[in-house]
This record gives sequence, C-alpha cells and structure tokens, in this order.
Amino acid sequence: MTDQIYVDGAWRRPASGETLPVVCPSDGKEFARIARGGAKDIDAAVAAARRAYEGPWGKLTALERGRLLMKVGVKIAEHAEELAQLEARDTGKPLKQARADMVAAARYFEFYGAAADKVHGEVIPFLAGYTVLVKHEARGVTGNIIPWNYPAQMFGRTLAPSLAVGNAAVLKPAEEACLTSLRIAQLCHEVGFPPGTINVVTGLGEEAGAALAGHPGVDFVAFTGSPQVGTLIQKACADHHRACVLELGGKSPQIVFEDAKFESVLPVVVNAIVQNGGQTCSAGSRVLIQRSIYERFTAQLAERFARLRVGSHEMDLDCGPLISAVQRDRVARFVRDARAARIPVLAEAQLAPGVPAGGYYAAPVLFGNVPLDHELACEEVFGPVLSAIPFEDEADAIRIANGTPYGLAAGIWTTDGTRQMRVAHAMRCGQVFVNGYGAGGGIELPFGGIKKSGHGREKGLEAMREFSVVKTIVINHG
Ligand code: NAI
Ligand code: MG
Repeated sequence: MTDQIYVDGAWRRPASGETLPVVCPSDGKEFARIARGGAKDIDAAVAAARRAYEGPWGKLTALERGRLLMKVGVKIAEHAEELAQLEARDTGKPLKQARADMVAAARYFEFYGAAADKVHGEVIPFLAGYTVLVKHEARGVTGNIIPWNYPAQMFGRTLAPSLAVGNAAVLKPAEEACLTSLRIAQLCHEVGFPPGTINVVTGLGEEAGAALAGHPGVDFVAFTGSPQVGTLIQKACADHHRACVLELGGKSPQIVFEDAKFESVLPVVVNAIVQNGGQTCSAGSRVLIQRSIYERFTAQLAERFARLRVGSHEMDLDCGPLISAVQRDRVARFVRDARAARIPVLAEAQLAPGVPAGGYYAAPVLFGNVPLDHELACEEVFGPVLSAIPFEDEADAIRIANGTPYGLAAGIWTTDGTRQMRVAHAMRCGQVFVNGYGAGGGIELPFGGIKKSGHGREKGLEAMREFSVVKTIVINHG
C-alpha cells in the first residue's frame, strides 16, 4: 500500500499512475515504491479536506476532536517498535533515534488532543451597552509540507495542532522518506476520523508540493525545509493572500563561557551536532568558546569527536548515514572546501567496520578556529560538521552568535546567573537553552525562527494559535 495516496478516507493510485523509488540510505538499495502524486491528486485531496471541514469533521466538538487525536497517540505508542523499524530503514537513522522519535510523535497527538478543548477566547471591555467577544477559529484547510529528517515527528508536529483547532489537512511528506507518514495515516484511519480530515499525497516537491503550496483552496500552509523552497512557498501564498509558517533551519550556536562545567557541556555539545547525523534544523552546528578555555575545551571535544562511530541504522551507533547521495555530496563539498581553505581539522570520526557498501555515510568532522566570514561559520551544512570559534568576552560572544543570516536556537553555558539572563535576552533567535540544549522533542515549547530561519511558531500552544484565526464579535445590546 506504500504506492498509494490517502485521499478522502481511502487509498488510491495517483492520477499519474507512476511510482517513485524508496531507498534505504544505509545501503543505497531500493526496497519499496511510493506514489508519484501530482496536481490532480492535490486537487482531490484539497476538495476532500474542504468537504470534511464544512461537513462531519467541522461539526465535531473540540472535546470530540481531542479524543480522536489522543487515540492516535495511543496507536502510535502501540505500534512504536514497528514504526521505529520502518523509520530507521527509510531514513537510515540509528534505531535508538527512531525509537525516541516515536515517543515524540505520539506525544504530539497526546499534547494537542488534550489541549483541543482548552482554546479559550476573551471578552473585551468596550463602549457602554456592548459586549465584545474574541474567539479563535479554525482557518479551514491547511497544506502541510514536511521534510525527511524526522518524518514521524513532523507528521505529529504539523498535523496535530492543525486538527486540534478544527482544520482539515493535506500533508505532503518529503519524497526521500514517506513511509511512516503513510503508516500513521493508516492508524488515523483506524481511529475513525471523518473521511477527508487527513489526506496524505506523496510525490515530488516541485510537483505535489508546489501544487499544494499554490492551491487556491488551501487556507494556510505550514512548511519545514530549506530557505530556498521556503521563499517559493511564501510567494505562492502571497498570490492567494494567505499566511504561512516557515521553519527553515539554522546555524545555531552553543556559547561556552570560561566558568562552564566541561563534563556537563561536552556530551551535549557533541550530541547537538551528531544527533540524526546533524540533519536537524536546530542542530548546534557552531560552538563558540571563550578564548581562555579554548585550547583545553577543544582538546577534550576533539577526543570525544574522534571516538564517534558511524554505521547503518541496524548497527545503531552514534551516527547513521545521511538521507541521500545528494545530501552526502553536499556535506562532503563543505568539508572539502573548508580543508582547501586550510581551516584546521581538530578531529574526524571513522566509519565503523562492516558498514554496508552503497550507503550515504559521512564521518563527523570538527573544525577549529573557523573564520567568521567563512561559510562554515554562517551556512547550514545539515551534516555532522561542527565549527569551533573562539570569542573574547560576553559582548563578542553575543555579536558572533547573532552574526549569521539565521536565528533559530542557541545554547548558553555558564554558571553565572546574571550572565545567563543577559545573554539569553540578547539572543536574536526563537529558542534559547541555558545549561542544556534540546529537550526530548520539546513538544510543549514554542519553536521557530527569525530571519532566514523563517517565521511563525510551531510546537506548544503557540502552534494552535498559528493554525487558527481570530474573530472579533461586537454585540450592541443597548
Ligand atoms: P526541501 O526544502 O527541498 O524539501 C522540504 C520539503 O519541501 C519536501 O517535502 C519537498 O518535497 C518539498 N518541496 C521541495 N520543493 C518544493 C516546491 N517547489 N514547492 C513545494 N514543496 C517543495 O529540502 P531538501 O532539498 O530536501 O534539503 C536541502 C537543504 O534544506 C538541506 O541540506 C538543509 O539545509 C535544508 N533542510 C532543512 C530542514 C529543516 O528541518 N529545517 C529539513 C530539510 C532540509
Ligand atoms: Mg529540494
């Protein structure tokens, strides 16, 4: 069934009649096919979503919507191992990462299911004889375009808040990794959403994705992916005067001050860049280190980096392969250019013995003293490549941290409480961690960027505001 699309509560072949290969990044071999959906399929999916929104789905109470969502959370938890195995094979990510992803995927449905009936409005004091109500309403039909790095998590992150507030949705997963989206759609079907509430159309970005982003029947678009495609999405939305939320990655810094406790910083800094092979929007891809501890800290960091092991999803080591040959070559190009620019390599990890041939492997690399004007200091690599950069003092750290086109997340490592607050407030980004980084999916925590990292917020209750629209009702009762 992976080669069919899910529209109007039923599985069907795409209008093109064509399929696309599904390749396991661990060995580069094809193991399934997905449907090549296109504009006609998107038309059908958007029409089905509209019917659901104006019909049975739209008529449910918030409590009833929430109950259905919570049942999806339970289903995902019940099928967690099966889904993790599928996700690991589809993306190449180590099994333990895929297992953690399923916990987070289930949690999205649990969180937003429980929140669905807690969207309260306001009463505004106005002129004598008036009552003014402010209510939050669904936007209608949402188009949800997700990437391949955390497919199951992204399914929950983009769909659960949209459905919780009462929208119907059309999801376009990334062509590189669709299988868990299709499987979770089956689980949603078993839960019993009215037909058309959730539709999943697989296909290429420039075909199915572009058709969805530009569809006149869509009321809101949520996109996670590259800044380049984010620009296209926003332009497509502009043509229809509709809003979108864009989450476009980053170059997030970890700032290590001289009073930081090395033992707690080091494992987190390493994990923040090697988790999921560095293919994480909020990857901690720059580590800014105070000059006074730079040599000592980077020596210990290098030791840990050199020990990292890279293998297939089944070998379940620190890093799996990257998602595709394209991404592997892109990362290799960054590493090659940095070496050619004579940026010092402080450590390089190894592929584990027995790594299958044909996989898209990239060994983690730690570069030191990266010049601020080099692309490694300001461009997203989306691979296990960490740039170490020295700084002099607090003002210097803030300037460097904020000195990229991106603004997604930051980590601050210091035991000085007043410095924690000063630096946290000075960060030009959407999420700041103090003495930590990332947090088990962080479902509850509003997340998103500024500048080239995009706009709008996902996760937390903020996502539900994003997926809804305010209506003001002014009543003159004399
Ligand atoms: P991409 O932006 O092309 O893909 C993301 C999603 O957008 C996929 O579902 C894709 O099918 C869809 N898409 C592609 N072209 C489209 C179009 N014209 N209209 C509508 N939808 C379209 O990202 P790609 O090419 O896979 O990765 C390139 C780079 O983007 C990565 O190296 C990384 O730097 C960044 N990226 C960031 C992500 C994040 O989590 N913020 C996730 C994936 C990629
Ligand atoms: Mg692309």
